[in-house]
Amino acid sequence: MALIKEFDTGTPIRVSETLITLTIDGQQVTVPHGTSVMAAAASMGTQVPKLCATDSLEPFGSCRLCLVQIEGRRGYPASCTTPAEAGMVVHTENGAIAKRRRGVMELYISDHPLTCLTCSANGDCELQDMAGKVGLRDVRYGYEGENHLAAPTDDSNPYFTFEASKCIACSRCVRACEDIQGTFALTMEGRGFASKISAGGTDFMGSECVSCGACVQACPTATLNEKAVIKLGTPEHSVVTTCAYCGVGCSFKAEMKGETVVRMVPYKDGGANAGHSCVKGRFAFGYATHKDRKTKPMIRAAITDPWQEVSWEVAIAHAASEFKRIQAKHGQNSVGGITSSRCTNEETFLVQKLIRGAFGNNNVDTCARVCHSPTGYGLSTTLGTSAGTQDFASVEHSDVILVIGANPTDGHPVFASRMKRRLRDGAKLIVADPRKIDLVKSPHIRAQHHLPLLPGTNVALLNALSHVIVTEGLINQDYVRERCDLDAFEGWARFIAMEHNSPEATAALTGVPAVDVRAAARLFATGGAAAIYYGLGITEHSQGTTAVMAMANLAMATGNIGKLGAGVNPLRGQNNVQGACDMGSFPHEFSGYRHVSDDAARKMFEATWGVPLSADPGLRIPNMLDDAVEGTFKALYIQGEDIAQSDPDTQHVTAGLRAMECVVVQDIFLNETAKYAHVFLPGSSFLEKDGTFTNAERRINRVRKVMSPLGGLADWEATVALSNALGFPMSYSHPSEIMDEIARLTPSFAGVSYAKLDELGSLQWPCNEAAPLGTPMMHVDRFVRGKGRFMLTDFVPTEERTGARFPLILTTGRILSQYNVGAQTRRTENSRWHEEDVLEIHPFDAENRGVNDGDLVALASRSGDIALRARISERMQPGVVYTTFHHAKTGANVITTDFSDWATNCPEYKVTAVQVRRTNRPSDWQAKFFEEDVSLTRIEVAEGAGD
Ligand code: SF4
Ligand code: SF4
Ligand code: SF4
Ligand code: FES
Repeated sequence: MALIKEFDTGTPIRVSETLITLTIDGQQVTVPHGTSVMAAAASMGTQVPKLCATDSLEPFGSCRLCLVQIEGRRGYPASCTTPAEAGMVVHTENGAIAKRRRGVMELYISDHPLTCLTCSANGDCELQDMAGKVGLRDVRYGYEGENHLAAPTDDSNPYFTFEASKCIACSRCVRACEDIQGTFALTMEGRGFASKISAGGTDFMGSECVSCGACVQACPTATLNEKAVIKLGTPEHSVVTTCAYCGVGCSFKAEMKGETVVRMVPYKDGGANAGHSCVKGRFAFGYATHKDRKTKPMIRAAITDPWQEVSWEVAIAHAASEFKRIQAKHGQNSVGGITSSRCTNEETFLVQKLIRGAFGNNNVDTCARVCHSPTGYGLSTTLGTSAGTQDFASVEHSDVILVIGANPTDGHPVFASRMKRRLRDGAKLIVADPRKIDLVKSPHIRAQHHLPLLPGTNVALLNALSHVIVTEGLINQDYVRERCDLDAFEGWARFIAMEHNSPEATAALTGVPAVDVRAAARLFATGGAAAIYYGLGITEHSQGTTAVMAMANLAMATGNIGKLGAGVNPLRGQNNVQGACDMGSFPHEFSGYRHVSDDAARKMFEATWGVPLSADPGLRIPNMLDDAVEGTFKALYIQGEDIAQSDPDTQHVTAGLRAMECVVVQDIFLNETAKYAHVFLPGSSFLEKDGTFTNAERRINRVRKVMSPLGGLADWEATVALSNALGFPMSYSHPSEIMDEIARLTPSFAGVSYAKLDELGSLQWPCNEAAPLGTPMMHVDRFVRGKGRFMLTDFVPTEERTGARFPLILTTGRILSQYNVGAQTRRTENSRWHEEDVLEIHPFDAENRGVNDGDLVALASRSGDIALRARISERMQPGVVYTTFHHAKTGANVITTDFSDWATNCPEYKVTAVQVRRTNRPSDWQAKFFEEDVSLTRIEVAEGAGD
């Protein structure tokens, strides 16, 4: 295996219907209109020397190394900034050009440390390559004159350094930060010899920098360089794989030395990220080899006993015998399992197969229950499929973007950069969010409308937007007539036109002035292609499904589904939450969303798996926990989920876990749920296995093994072993065979295979005979369900009410540097940005309670109370407080209630009535947490264990 070097055409590849033909070095070449001379030369394999140009950035023309000669033109124009023209005759090499290039290079090198042989970038430096390419041997000017060799190094960022002495002032970093990332953290200060890169007059850590790594990637020298490369040396080989954090699904080259990952470099051919990254995928992978990894299977009789390390055989045999014993004693339905959105499609498929086939029931659920289950239900009811409608690239064609209940710059940063680029290019933005999220106002972006609605009122706001569209005659009549069920539409239009749905009537509920709602609705309906992007701020409500349907109604009424730049687009949370849903992780559905009572589908699975399957939907996670507390549900197999931290009403969750006789946790760390477990199976990180993840745009990406599983088995291998021990045989030699089975059993995956994924890079489902290359955009000529179905979306306020005891509303979310329950990011340097969860509170509410910035405050709800530090913030509106849930010791979910979505049981994380007061001690729950952190995690190493 070699290091994958991607070809750099120097300037971006253009797309145009107009082609032009020119001659370069005596050879004719035809390129799209707008292509630079440099890229035209590259298209025929000629790489013109360059320093300030790279194909991810628009050309700048500052280094003058890329000069060429063009017949009939004076001088030596820069090939990067000169557009190719029909009939042009270009020479990229001759004696005069070579002499000039050497002169340019000599100037650079005379002000550059001559430490190539000991430099961390030796062999991976464009300056070094170019010096060789232009044939520079000696520098005539000496190094005595004025130079930058003593310029200081900025070491502040935990992941990369800025060695100013090596900077050639090419500004690639500045342009990367502006054009690709959209953060504008860097500037080029001064002019000529005095020009230097500045992170806003401070160091990188103190600047606006979000550590996305785009500047590091763009830098042609070792000025901006990964600390891991400095420590470990330049990598030797690379493997293309997929980030294991969020639902954007960025592709990376894992660049390795032996089995050690030196760095993760975003892959230019990645369908989701096109060479960009965020701090998590780019830098926060150290958790995979963190000392906290548990690599030995363990068992114990009671959760108060210390763990005993045992061999895989012993652990698997023990788990299997416990499941069998419990089913024999308490009945077939007394056991179940939870699949993981962190694991691969293949692993998820196997866990649900084990539950249906070996346990003989449908008691399988997944963490999508607590995030995007309303998306599945809402979109399949209205449009006919349980997934987003567009690919990410579609946003580049949007004229109006409505972001509701999502915070893309923190939650889905790489997609946010793409969206911000389109906004800087002129698309209009509507943000509906209780908080002033970054998108509302950031460099060169300002939302046309920020609708700061009160948590819990999404449906009222969406209805009000549609009310304006219906009553002001802004319906796209042709589209609705042609594409939608007219009876349903007419019923909906009558309903939505009712006065109680008007902006004026709903303003008292939502807190958003009617005039702003009217203006936003008019913009959405008349501004061109309009797209909706949403997140958990929509779904995690008692009316999550209703809100998803209300968005589908809004999009259908304005003709905004089935075309570029439009659509209803869920920003999925976890890396493989889409895949976990697709793979049959819900208790009522097989893979491909076929109901378990569908005889034809069930028979197909029975025939392939060789066992009878239950036609009755199984238990959802909350039902399993309720039944456990009541004593009828007794054992659970949990792969890669931490429900004790991530699910609402922690004390109820842990009561359920405590009540079970056997909890099997398969994870890379001894997580919070493992405190209540009896069997621990070491999990494997994304670096340790083959498989696929499916991202928010239905894109199936390959995950490739770059190192051996630290615990000895990949997760899928452990599931196979458990299934075999349970007497339900499974036999696969590689995950590709599992995908072949998925393809045989799942119509929307029928055309998917590893061979095709390797050939094409990725595939968006449906991928089958009708769409062999996949489907970037859904519902193009007709809805998957036939006619689009408008649904009535009556606003029903949540039962969670504020009052004298709990007067504030708590809403939760996440931040850029940490990820969900923090199991991974807390074990990386990312914690430098977010060491603890804090409570954001408006100055008005803080003052009323005598709370100062940084004070420890008690946060109490009807479910429980915790203590955390207060941060006074004007991003909040009065009456609403906000926190994250990245740190187990905070226990944010001790506060959240067990109210949930009417259709899917998705918990109402986003609305909890709370009170805040100053305190000087942790809450009782937190004190107990610290105690149990010791008492329930003891490990006793048995002699000869792990053989
Ligand atoms: S790491 Fe990203 S945000 Fe930070 S300066 Fe570089 S490009 Fe800008
Ligand atoms: S830091 Fe790197 S990319 Fe930025 S100007 Fe200097 S050499 Fe160019
Ligand atoms: S945006 Fe998401 S998938 Fe991409 S690098 Fe960041 S965390 Fe990973
Ligand atoms: S690469 Fe063209 S001027 Fe620098």
